[in-house]
Amino acid sequence: MVYQPAEDSYLLEKEVKSLISKLKNKELDKIKVLDMGSGSGIQAQASIKSGIKMSNVLCVDIDEEVIDFLKKQKLQAVQSNLFSNIKDKFNLIIFNAPYLPEDKDEKKYGKVLDTTAGKKGFEIIIKFLEQAKQHLNKEGKILLLFSNLSKPRVILKEAKQLGYKYKKLAEQKLFFEKLFVYEFLVD
Ligand SMILES: C[S@@+](CC[C@H](N)C(=O)[O-])C[C@H]1O[C@@H](n2cnc3c(N)ncnc32)[C@H](O)[C@@H]1O
Repeated sequence: MVYQPAEDSYLLEKEVKSLISKLKNKELDKIKVLDMGSGSGIQAQASIKSGIKMSNVLCVDIDEEVIDFLKKQKLQAVQSNLFSNIKDKFNLIIFNAPYLPEDKDEKKYGKVLDTTAGKKGFEIIIKFLEQAKQHLNKEGKILLLFSNLSKPRVILKEAKQLGYKYKKLAEQKLFFEKLFVYEFLVD
């Protein structure tokens, strides 16, 4: 199922646009963007609208239905479990990660929800950070969204051990949770 953009999507989209707006025109032409867990393609489209060449934006999702949906928008899209089918390096990797702990009723739905990150709520995010390092160009950046329910302290501790520097760019309080957007780069 294609994830319908929600507060998390819009919060990250704002930061994608803001980061790209700071790039010079000369840089814009060369920047390669990876939209991990692309869903509706909102982050890829935000990158293109902000001036990144369409041919330099790659969408990745684990879900075949999502890939078909993205290709209908003429976006480049590859089905992949995180980076399993990805060889290239990028200047910007965006990920609105599945960030919630497993719902105990989830098995009844017959499918892992788009927002489920694993039993504890951070497993996929840690895997992503482990793999993303190898796919960043020099001075490349990651924009990652997660929530207070994804155990930010565990994620940030692990990121530090993996050699990332990070800073918080945005946060938004919702009813039951708080969303965060962080920027990561390799030290
Ligand atoms: C919370 S949605 C975000 C969708 C969109 N990027 C947005 O901002 O609205 C998470 C997306 O990650 C995808 N996803 C989940 N696990 C994945 C994995 N292991 N590798 C690649 N994509 C994955 C889901 O199919 C879903 O489209």
